[in-house]
Parts: sequence; structure tokens; C-alpha cells
Amino acid sequence: MEYCVKKAAAGDPRELFVELSDLDRLCVGAEGWSADSFESEAAKDNGIVLYITENDRISALICGYSAVGEGDITSVAVHPDFRRRGLALRLISEFEAMLPDDAEDIFLEVRESNSAAVSLYEKCGFKAISIRKNFYESPVENAIVMKKSITCEV
Ligand SMILES: CC(C)(COP(=O)(O)OP(=O)(O)OC[C@H]1O[C@@H](n2cnc3c(N)ncnc32)[C@H](O)[C@@H]1OP(=O)(O)O)[C@@H](O)C(=O)NCCC(=O)NCCS
Repeated sequence: MEYCVKKAAAGDPRELFVELSDLDRLCVGAEGWSADSFESEAAKDNGIVLYITENDRISALICGYSAVGEGDITSVAVHPDFRRRGLALRLISEFEAMLPDDAEDIFLEVRESNSAAVSLYEKCGFKAISIRKNFYESPVENAIVMKKSITCEV
């Protein structure tokens, strides 16, 4: 099926941010972001909010930002009906392509028990670098901090 990758921006309809929040919360529960959070992240100069639509329905999203010399992924969510079709891989690749030229690394945190996401990130080239004890709430759980180096060796 044809799909389309889009970047959310300031001024997009409120309904878009509500849909992104609904998808995030469907996928990760209460810790998913609110519509306000998606809207304010999309409005920031360094914010990157990308989503995939198929037949006018949002099937996947990625959210993050760039900081000095790095990118940070804060959320990746794919609707259960659309999983294992490479959508998360595609969004991570698009996120990487949007980072400024001086970005050297991408960082993210993932729940220790989230083996699907850990496999996804490993497939994208991320490596575990440390553990943040009790980083998550409800349920309390450690986070694995993962990093991908994106500097080209010349
Ligand atoms: C994790 C998640 C984003 C993956 O999205 P997806 O679009 O299904 O992933 P992709 O199709 O791009 O998968 C790419 C690779 O990741 C790995 N992977 C993805 N889902 C997996 C699963 N359930 N079990 C094991 N490996 C998995 C595989 O290596 C897969 O490649 P393959 O299909 O060729 O085997 C999705 O399951 C999701 O939204 N989960 C709930 C939210 C979440 O946990 N987000 C991450 C928070 S840090």
C-alpha cells in the first residue's frame, strides 16, 4: 500500500496533534505524549515530528530533536495494524536524514523489557551504552540508553 511520510509543523491543524497523541498513547500507554506536547515540539526550530499516513490515517510516528552535535529520539510508535512492514525503520532513517550536518550521534532510551524496540534499534545500528536505573514509572523499570554514531569516516 502507498504511504506518505510527512513532517508536522507549527500551524498544522490541532486535529493532527490529537491524532499523534492518540497513536502514541495507544502504543505506549499513559506515558505517551499529549497533543500539546506534540504541537510544541513540532513548533520548535530543532524539533522533528514525522508521521506516516495511509489512506488519510496516521499509521506511525517518530518524535525527537537535534541538539549540539547530536539527535535524540523521544518516541517511536506504529499502530498495531501496521507493524512489521518497515515503517519504524523508515521513520528512523528519515529522522537521521533531517539532522544537521554536525550531528555525530543519535541517542534514545528504551524500557529494558521492550525487546521489539531494542531489536528495531539494533537493526538500525544503535548500541546499548548504559542503564538508567528506575528511569520509567508505571511500571518502574530501568532504561537502556542506546547510541548510534552517524559520523562518516573519510
Ligand atoms: C517497536 C515498534 C515501533 C516497531 O515498529 P514496526 O514498524 O513494526 O518495526 P519495523 O517493521 O520497522 O521492524 C524493523 C525491525 O525491528 C525488529 N522488530 C520490530 N518489531 C519486532 C518485534 N515485535 N519482535 C522482534 N523484533 C522486532 C525486527 O528486526 C524488524 O525487522 P524484520 O521485520 O525484518 O524482522 C512497534 O512495535 C511499536 O510501536 N511498539 C510499541 C511502541 C514502542 O515500544 N515504541 C518504542 C518506545 S522506545
